[in-house]
Amino acid sequence: MSKKRPSTAPPSTEDRVRLSWRGRSWTYPIRLGTEGEVAVDISTLRRDTGLITLDPGFVNTGACTSDITFIDGERGILRHRGYAIEDLAEHCVFLEVAYLLILGKLPNRTEWQHFSDLMNRHSMIHEDMRDFFLNYPEHAHPMAVLSAMVVSLSSFYPEIGQDDPNEPLDITATRLLSKLRTIAAFSYKKSIGEPFVYPSHRMSYCENFLNMMFSSPVNDYWPDPVVVRALNLFLILHADHEQNCSTSVVRIVGSAGSSLYASIAAGICALWGPLHGGANQAVIEMLERILREDRGRVDKMIERAKKGDPKSRLMGFGHRIYKTYDPRARIAKDACRKLLARLGMHNDPVLEIAMELEEKALNDPYFQERHLYPNVDFYTGIAYRAMGIPTNMFTVMFAIGRLPGWIAHWMENRRDPAQKIGRPRQLYIGEPARPFVPMDQRP
Ligand code: SDX
Repeated sequence: MSKKRPSTAPPSTEDRVRLSWRGRSWTYPIRLGTEGEVAVDISTLRRDTGLITLDPGFVNTGACTSDITFIDGERGILRHRGYAIEDLAEHCVFLEVAYLLILGKLPNRTEWQHFSDLMNRHSMIHEDMRDFFLNYPEHAHPMAVLSAMVVSLSSFYPEIGQDDPNEPLDITATRLLSKLRTIAAFSYKKSIGEPFVYPSHRMSYCENFLNMMFSSPVNDYWPDPVVVRALNLFLILHADHEQNCSTSVVRIVGSAGSSLYASIAAGICALWGPLHGGANQAVIEMLERILREDRGRVDKMIERAKKGDPKSRLMGFGHRIYKTYDPRARIAKDACRKLLARLGMHNDPVLEIAMELEEKALNDPYFQERHLYPNVDFYTGIAYRAMGIPTNMFTVMFAIGRLPGWIAHWMENRRDPAQKIGRPRQLYIGEPARPFVPMDQRP
């Protein structure tokens, strides 16, 4: 038995947690994270004690160890592979952060050029996939199209193993990173009845996306560098967020041996929910409703949100992990104001309402007592709206940003020797055993 250590000593792997139940007791080892987080390893709990734990929403339960992203929700810290989100947002373009998340390091000039060349080479989708778009109704939600198209990629581009040990970039991942952007732009063009615009090797990742979205045979469009810079920043803010709902879905689907395409398609569907990635669309709809129905007065919305009705929540507020200001929201708010000013939208009423709503909520005891602050979705939609991106594409933008994070976690899960197929337990509270009753004897 390890010697008793004073509770004032910093946690050590020598420490153990004791569980006592009905006259017996067991001890369990603790695991230490890089930043001092402490976990109790209960992987033998049921075998030792017959007990399971119950933790709806996995609020207290870690599913894995990971070296991709670190979040300190109390101090508002977010780092990817050790780099602070503030530094990445200020100094990188989105694809650099995608490379960092997937390969664990920022690319040098040679690696960057190779990655960019591969992204260009795989930016088009098979011509036969274009026809899929033709059969969707114009009002089809782009998240439905995106998920279906991603899983269809496996029919045109079967996953190929890594046969070249000198090729660090997973070809399937690179292909998916490049094609998701094309599929997203095509789904937008389909929804407005305009011809598809193809990617160009002359443009960067974000320039290409904006060009495929807004160029057409009748306009002489070139992406505004201010918008390109802002889009890179907003995609970086969404690139990864450790074990959030959609990333957990990607990991658990991948744990069954499902393909990367199938796992990402599942993650897209999870992200679509209004409590998760769908919140950025819900924020704009909430702000526009305040403008339309409450004549811009935010008090009614705040009072509705305080009633605790899940359907009247302040969208873009609150977070499972952050109990202080989401660092991404702070960056997004500043970038949003600068973007609207550079685009001459100084007095955008929706931005004004958002900032007043934030100020009032942050000074209201209901939100203060529950540690409810703006999250990444609160300002993002206002910026996308200023870029000309339609509301129903906001969650698609979240998916484009989150894709490198999903890929990184899917790969990490596959490579983790401790991982097995995800299969949580449950506490059954249904009917006890009962005899079968033939239909004619049922009341
Ligand atoms: C994302 O996990 C991630 O990392 C996600 C994400 C990522 O990058 O992947 O950060 C992206 O999903 C951001 C969150 C986007 N969703 C929204 O903005 C929707 C509105 N927010 C909430 O629904 C809520 O805050 C959640 C879903 C984000 C978090 O919910 P929790 O942690 O399960 O908290 P809870 O539902 O248990 O609420 C605790 C209390 C409750 O009140 P009481 O019952 O204690 O009285 O806070 C209240 C809730 O009613 N509350 C809110 C509120 N959010 C929580 N009340 C009003 N408005 C809100 N927005």
